[in-house]
Amino acid sequence: MAAVIQTFPTTPHELGLLYRARPAMAGLLLAGTAARSWPAMGSPVRKVPGIGWVTADPVMARAVLQDHRSFTILGEGGVGDLWAQILGDWVLDLFDGAGHHDLRSRTRELFTEAVSRDLVHAAWGERVAAAGEVLRAGGTLDVAHLARVLVGRMVIGLLGIPRPAQHHGTWPDDEGALQVFETGERLATVALNTAGSTTLTPDQVATAQGIVAELTAGIPDGWRDAPPDTLLGRCRELGLGLTETSGLASLLMVAGTETAASAMGRTTALLIDTGEQHRMLAAMRAGTGAVASTGRLLNPGEGDPVENVVREGLRVTSPASVIGRGVAADVEVGGARLRAGDRIMLLVWSANVAAGPFRADRPYVRESRQLWFGAGRHLCLGAALARAEIGTLLRMLWSEDRPLRVIRRRAARGVLIPAWSELHVSRT
Ligand code: HEM
Repeated sequence: MAAVIQTFPTTPHELGLLYRARPAMAGLLLAGTAARSWPAMGSPVRKVPGIGWVTADPVMARAVLQDHRSFTILGEGGVGDLWAQILGDWVLDLFDGAGHHDLRSRTRELFTEAVSRDLVHAAWGERVAAAGEVLRAGGTLDVAHLARVLVGRMVIGLLGIPRPAQHHGTWPDDEGALQVFETGERLATVALNTAGSTTLTPDQVATAQGIVAELTAGIPDGWRDAPPDTLLGRCRELGLGLTETSGLASLLMVAGTETAASAMGRTTALLIDTGEQHRMLAAMRAGTGAVASTGRLLNPGEGDPVENVVREGLRVTSPASVIGRGVAADVEVGGARLRAGDRIMLLVWSANVAAGPFRADRPYVRESRQLWFGAGRHLCLGAALARAEIGTLLRMLWSEDRPLRVIRRRAARGVLIPAWSELHVSRT
């Protein structure tokens, strides 16, 4: 029995969820974890027919992400290749090289810890409070649905998406937020069939272009007129042109919607399924001072039980399960010789879960660091915002010092980012 438990790196519910999302990918991720457990099986970087090079080793993965000369996000195998086909070749400079460096330098302040907290408070405050009331009154809450609504609201706020002409009543409302979320999902689905190649068909390009036009329709006005305390206003003040701002907006949309919603629902389920919610509640009850046991002052969030769970949830769920790169120049990694034009898939999920099962109080894992957000120059721009989003949801769900249970759940089928499509929880 013990051997069986060790064979599976995460909960049965998480495995089922990965399988429902994409069976082939689930198989690859599990094979990656198995290969990690038996390093004697050979090089940590291997060639898989039909896929190319793969690795589930966190140190190798980070080395690839930090080696900007030998690997590229632009070539076949990287997301930049997809974007160039959809938005145009101007993206190439924005995604890598001097243009990317300039964009990242200018946008460094867009999602600091403090800005992220304010953004979440402004976009979600009332809606999260209303959801909290439902639980307090003994009702049932679909956390998966709520996560999509909240993330949709965030996107509407960030991109200044105006009220659609046919829409009446307050804006944004849940229905409008869900529509925006689903539009982002449709865009990501275009990338779903690119595991073999990142070259899109003309039909896929046309579909994606239509979606981008829909999502970014409000950007020109917002970029011109929005006050400096909004994202679009800040982009303008930072000296980003309209084209760069639109490109960045499309990126935020795709990078930050499904990933965040996935982590929110899955971390909630993991806390309940593993019983770790009790450990988190106990730690919250005990309270944490602002000083570590060594007497040293803590960094923001450090020692906070919820922040710790947010990090651990991101490690175990790793919503961006794989990161792709093209090989730009012949290079040797982990004893394997990769040739220019090859592609490599970094099995981030496998690399991260190998450190052990979900534990609410697991300390920072040095080996994986924050590989769920990537590494190197493309390290997730919205990391602080994502953490603030997940933390805000968890604090609301467990605000009454009472455990939750799952009443009903359903995993999304055939999606790029594995997620719960329904996760009904209650305190009773
Ligand atoms: C749990 C949620 C999230 C996860 C797991 C995640 C993960 C990642 C990963 C792995 C990358 C690197 C991709 C690569 O190297 O190919 C990335 C990049 C990026 N993410 Fe996130 N992300 C999340 C949320 C967000 C949010 C909320 C935003 C913004 C609102 C965001 C914006 C971006 C952007 C703009 C990039 C591209 C950065 C660059 O190329 O320089 N992400 N994200």
